Amino acid sequence: MSRMRAVGILSTGSCVPERVLTNADLEKMVDTSDEWIVTRTGIRERRICSADEASSDLAYQAAVKALEKANVTADELDLIIVATITPDTLFPSTACLLQERLGAKRAAAMDVSAACTGFLYGIATASQFIATGLYRYVLVVGVETLSKITDYKDRNTCVLFGDGAGAALLGPVPSGFGFQAFDLGADGSGGPLLQLPAGGSRIPASHESVENRLHYIAMAGREVFKFAVRVMSSATEAVLAKAGVSKEEIDLLVPHQANLRIIEAAIKRFGLSEDKVVVNLDRYGNMSSASIPVALDEALAAGRINEGDTVVLVGFGGGLTWGASLLKWTFQRL
Ligand code: ACO
Repeated sequence: MSRMRAVGILSTGSCVPERVLTNADLEKMVDTSDEWIVTRTGIRERRICSADEASSDLAYQAAVKALEKANVTADELDLIIVATITPDTLFPSTACLLQERLGAKRAAAMDVSAACTGFLYGIATASQFIATGLYRYVLVVGVETLSKITDYKDRNTCVLFGDGAGAALLGPVPSGFGFQAFDLGADGSGGPLLQLPAGGSRIPASHESVENRLHYIAMAGREVFKFAVRVMSSATEAVLAKAGVSKEEIDLLVPHQANLRIIEAAIKRFGLSEDKVVVNLDRYGNMSSASIPVALDEALAAGRINEGDTVVLVGFGGGLTWGASLLKWTFQRL
């Protein structure tokens, strides 16, 4: 590992749609209440795309901001990874659509599918190419338009999700900084707990699949909740152990934004004060793979990260999947 290059996040950018869907709006659509949603999830509002907006549109806005902040041009990109479960189309990949829109002519492009853990899978993959010296600049975007696959007649799911995009530009940083450890995992036996049943090769789109509402997210909420509380802790512990860092040294935890109660369980477990944990789900709900990069972008914009800080990113999602990453943050680059 010592001969590998150190890799870090050089810049971030984010984009959420303009339209706000509040809990009061949802009260008019399904049998729910602001009080239920806030006490069970912590969510107050979320952003929703317009009918003609797709994932690549949000991804493009977030990507442009990240590139501008780093003063890196699109034609300097070697690889684009888009983490999403709501691609514009099954193929071509959303990464290819983004590559074309950015004019990143030299860049290879691919999508990664790991649901809410997608951004972590994306940065873990991207960093290997840079660490080995094969690539210099890799753009990773977590983007979702979950509103397009959410059943607004199902109160169990429709209160939870929102749309958005977060981008991160990865590149070489001074030795000793950047990513110190990753921990990725999957348990495919839990796949049925959280899925989009139709539209793939198992159940292709048909009149019947549409009538049976199989093109919407189906979730066993209580089971996913228990899994999430468990892996948020175990993945964070694993990444701390791999990096040889104690929980007391965490300066900022950027968790996946699914449910405030899941985040509070992690805060309690690690004895963190609230100022060391980023929470924005009250404004955006669960944006799946976009949640962590948008939260990171907002934390940076608010000046919550300083040179040398220990930053932990941790998430979980459909698959089932989970992941964590520990960085020694730097604003320097090579
Ligand atoms: N409004 C009012 N009542 C509701 C609503 C609602 N929006 N939704 C469910 N209820 C009802 C249920 O029907 C149930 O009623 P019953 O007891 O009569 O059957 C009752 O509220 C309690 O339901 P629970 O499922 O026990 O509620 P819980 O406290 O577990 O909260 C929730 C549900 C918020 C979904 C929670 O389980 C959760 O957050 N799970 C994790 C979801 C998650 O993290 N997903 C992330 C992965 S996302 C990805 O990868 C795309």
